Amino acid sequence: MRIIEITGEREKYWDLFLLADPSKDMVRRYLHQGFLLGAETQDRSIAGEILTVPVGTNEWEIKNLAVSEVFQGKGLGKALVEAVQYRLPKGTVLLVGTDDVSGNVGFYESCGFSRFRTEPGFFVKNYPEPLYDHGAQCIDMIYLKQIL
Ligand SMILES: CC(C)(COP(=O)(O)OP(=O)(O)OC[C@H]1O[C@@H](n2cnc3c(N)ncnc32)[C@H](O)[C@@H]1OP(=O)(O)O)[C@@H](O)C(=O)NCCC(=O)NCCS
Repeated sequence: MRIIEITGEREKYWDLFLLADPSKDMVRRYLHQGFLLGAETQDRSIAGEILTVPVGTNEWEIKNLAVSEVFQGKGLGKALVEAVQYRLPKGTVLLVGTDDVSGNVGFYESCGFSRFRTEPGFFVKNYPEPLYDHGAQCIDMIYLKQIL
């Protein structure tokens, strides 16, 4: 497995993008921004991706991170975050937003992020259908950040 930058067509990775964010409309808003890294297997398929976009002076945000189900829990998600941390200049503020029910907050904390803001009702206001994860409805967006 190696981490590569994906410079070709991003539309090839819809399955992964939708695993992280089930709304195509939301994904389309950032799909062509920033840089896209992928975890490439020996047979050259992409087992995971991370899409990071600039959101302000010296501020970047991880907008989409997903690892295919069969590859989850093997360190790939963390390796993708580390590749982003390595690539951005020291002093950059790196942000990420995630739901409050999936346990992803714990994943990001283990990658060095700290919670700093909650947007109440984000998933209710911005998604046409109720969104469920692990059997619970996603309501609030939790924002985390770290300074690289
Ligand atoms: C979230 C996701 C990217 C994590 O990737 P992964 O490859 O499965 O995670 P890793 O194996 O790299 O885990 C890294 C660390 O996070 C921890 N971790 C992973 N998932 C966690 C969870 N739900 N809660 C708490 N800790 C978690 C692991 O225990 C591990 O800790 P360690 O370094 O101390 O051993 C992956 O599960 C995924 O793609 N999920 C579906 C899509 C999604 O929810 N994307 C995120 C949207 S914000």
